[in-house]
This record gives sequence, C-alpha cells and structure tokens, in this order.
Amino acid sequence: MRVLVIGGTGHIGSYLVPRLVLAGHDVTVVARNPHPQYTDERLAWTRVTWEVADRSAEEEAGTWAERMAGLETDAVIDLITFRTEQNDVMMQAFAGRIEHFLHCGTIWSYGPTERAPYEEHFPRRPTTQYGIDKAQIEADLHRAWCRDGFPYTVIHPGHICGRRWLPIDPQGSRDGVGVYRKLARGETVHLPDLGLATIHHVHADDVAQLFQLSLEQPGQALDESFSAVAPYAMSLLGCCRFVASLFGHEAILEFVSRAQLQTIVGDRSWAVIESHIEHSPCSSIAKGQHLLGYQPRYTTEQIYTECIEHLLSTGELEI
Ligand SMILES: NC(=O)c1ccc[n+]([C@@H]2O[C@H](COP(=O)([O-])OP(=O)(O)OC[C@H]3O[C@@H](n4cnc5c(N)ncnc54)[C@H](OP(=O)(O)O)[C@@H]3O)[C@@H](O)[C@H]2O)c1
Repeated sequence: MRVLVIGGTGHIGSYLVPRLVLAGHDVTVVARNPHPQYTDERLAWTRVTWEVADRSAEEEAGTWAERMAGLETDAVIDLITFRTEQNDVMMQAFAGRIEHFLHCGTIWSYGPTERAPYEEHFPRRPTTQYGIDKAQIEADLHRAWCRDGFPYTVIHPGHICGRRWLPIDPQGSRDGVGVYRKLARGETVHLPDLGLATIHHVHADDVAQLFQLSLEQPGQALDESFSAVAPYAMSLLGCCRFVASLFGHEAILEFVSRAQLQTIVGDRSWAVIESHIEHSPCSSIAKGQHLLGYQPRYTTEQIYTECIEHLLSTGELEI
C-alpha cells in the first residue's frame, strides 16, 4: 500500500516508518529535514520517498493544500495536525481518493479522568485548548465519515517516550535528569498531595504499532478511535518507588501541598506537573486489544528502565 506519513521523522515516525517499510508498504514521508530524529537512518529509511516541505510556511503561503492535492497515495497518516482548519484542508485534499486517513490525537482530548480506566466511547471533556482542538478534529472526522464515508481512524497517544526521549518523570514533570538523580542517590523527592495522581506513558514504538495495526485492518479501524498507551497507568508514588528500586533502595518521599511544590520546583516545572496531576490520565487498551490485537511491548517500568539505561550509558545521569 502507498502510505503518506506527514511529520514522519519525530518520536512516532522514527518507529512507524521503518515498521511500514519492513511490512512492505511504499512510504512517502513529509518533513522539513529528510532524516529520522530518534532511530538510525541506515535501517529501512533508504527505501523512503521524501517530500521535503515546511507545512507551517506553506499553510501560511496557501500552497500546502495544492501540495497535498498533488500527491497520489492510498493512505495518509497525519501526525502533525493540531487545529481544525488544518484538518479541513487535509480532508478536502484527500476526500474520495484514499482508502484510509489516520489522524494522531491525544489523551488530553479526553479531559481529566472521571471514570478509570477511560474507554474511547466515554464523553470527551477536554479542558486545555490543545485537547479541545484535537477533540473537535475527531468530531469533524466522524461527521465526514457519516456524511461522505470519509475513511478515518484516530489514535490517541499517552505521554510518548522512547530511548532518546525522556518520559514524564516520576514527579510529573519533564525536567531533565534531576528527579532521576535524586531517586538514584536516595535524596528526597517532593510529591503533590498524597502522590496518587497518575500518569500514563506509552513507548513511541507502541504508538507506531497501533497506527500500523489500524492501517492494516481497516475493517476493524474505520470510524474508530484507539488509546495508544502502556498496559496500565501508574501513580507518581509508584513511579518514584520503581525508579528508586532500580538503584537498590527505597524512595525517600515528602508529600507537600500543590502551592508548596510550586515553590520548590519553580513555575516552569510546576506548569507541567499541574497539567499532569489535573488530568491524572488512566486509559483502557481493551478496545485496541480486542479489535486490533494491540499488544504494547512496554510497561511504564520498562520505559523508565530503557531511558535510565540510556542516560547512564551516555553519562547524562551520574550517580
Ligand atoms: N509528545 C507527546 O507526548 C504526545 C502525546 C500525545 C499526543 N501527541 C501527538 O503526537 C503528534 C506529534 O508526534 P511526534 O511526537 O512524533 O512529533 P515530533 O517528535 O514533534 O515530530 C514532528 C515531526 O513533524 C515534522 N515537522 C515539524 N514541523 C514541521 C513543519 N512545519 N513542516 C513539515 N514537517 C514538520 C518533524 O520533522 P522536521 O522537524 O524535520 O520538519 C517531525 O517529522 C501530535 O499530533 C501530538 O498531538 C504527542
């Protein structure tokens, strides 16, 4: 199958494109730079056709729609649409001439967790502009399916990570190696409230797996959305305990109020932590397992282990 991957060299694409090439698909990748950012470009990437373009610049200049209309493909995987008007252009460009359009959403479109684990058919109650826009894109795609049979699927990833892309850390931030160093050295880590807010990671290769499974089983995937997450979410407390255990000791934790934590970590880190604890995501993978055979290769513990091994091997984390 001819597959066009828009934004195919980042976290997801670095794993997805080799998967598609090795499965025998004829893959064209759109990016500004024709190189994968997170995997080795000698592996499978030599068989990729490059469409080097700056989407933002072309959207501004009004030439992006024309570029898309000129591309011949059977399927489109759009990894970098964030606003409804961008998606409108994509739907217009490919309506009636492709078999499958796969959009990359986010679990932030679900909103803060009300029922856990969240299933894809639960109501969307996004609270951030990012989540609101992604939820609207999903609704627009569903409407286009109902109206014209536009053949879409939406994949909603959790917190994406990989060997060279640090996971959301056990404090709920993405603040370099500081928290890992503290847990490795047996120093105190501060957690908000009782440390029971959850985070839900996913390895980029598991996101890629779900895109591939959807692409290759359209009968199961059309007009559906799937959460791309690890088998289970973990609390910050659980994440701290696990990472400390990798270094052979108990996590030393101090539980503080949100206001105290903001003072301790600073405004920038706090903004990231606050968004995570307010969402406390926890999504189900049952639908992906049942309809597509999704089998995530990585738990959160395995994600942390892979990243910490990488940090130790590069010297970024010293203990
Ligand atoms: N990060 C997360 O934890 C997370 C969680 C949930 C959902 N998501 C969703 O994941 C998607 C992003 O996927 P990702 O994390 O794989 O992205 P990423 O790592 O940021 O990679 C972005 C890709 O798009 C290309 N790109 C960026 N700007 C471009 C432009 N102006 N023109 C053409 N190509 C451009 C990049 O290549 P060049 O730089 O060479 O152009 C690269 O291939 C989004 O839809 C986001 O909502 C992310």
